[in-house]
Amino acid sequence: MPLENLNHFTLLTANHEKLKKFYSHILGLTVGLRPPVPSTGTWLYCGETPVVHLVELESAPNVQDTQIEHVAFSASGLAELLEHLRDNEVPYQIAVVPDVEIRQVNVFDPDGNHIEMQFAPEEEADLNSFKLETIRDLILSSGIPEWREGSTTSPV
Ligand SMILES: [Fe+2]
Repeated sequence: MPLENLNHFTLLTANHEKLKKFYSHILGLTVGLRPPVPSTGTWLYCGETPVVHLVELESAPNVQDTQIEHVAFSASGLAELLEHLRDNEVPYQIAVVPDVEIRQVNVFDPDGNHIEMQFAPEEEADLNSFKLETIRDLILSSGIPEWREGSTTSPV
């Protein structure tokens, strides 16, 4: 099969600095080399791969319905990440995949893009969501089933 791996996703944004800070400071990606392409923006790396490309726009893109609803990262260090999100007041929703017990952490960047992070079942942490009420509308519009404190839900 010629395809090997997902390389990156590109976000058009009128909030370039906010998104740059979110993906670097909050999610821990590294700002790195960006070739001299004509647009203004930032590439953020996960290891050697520039997984997030930000492209700055003067005004917010005209978004209607979108077919790509979220992007998911494999991740490790669940408890540490959750503490970091709480320290930075970033709301998150947690879901546990039935049977396989993979832990999902769902967050939304400052533009409302849905990012999912997946952690192994062995990762121990407090699996309650945080500030869920502040992202409830985003969760509902994303198709994530409504979630109650202390329960799990079918993940997306
Ligand atoms: Fe997903």
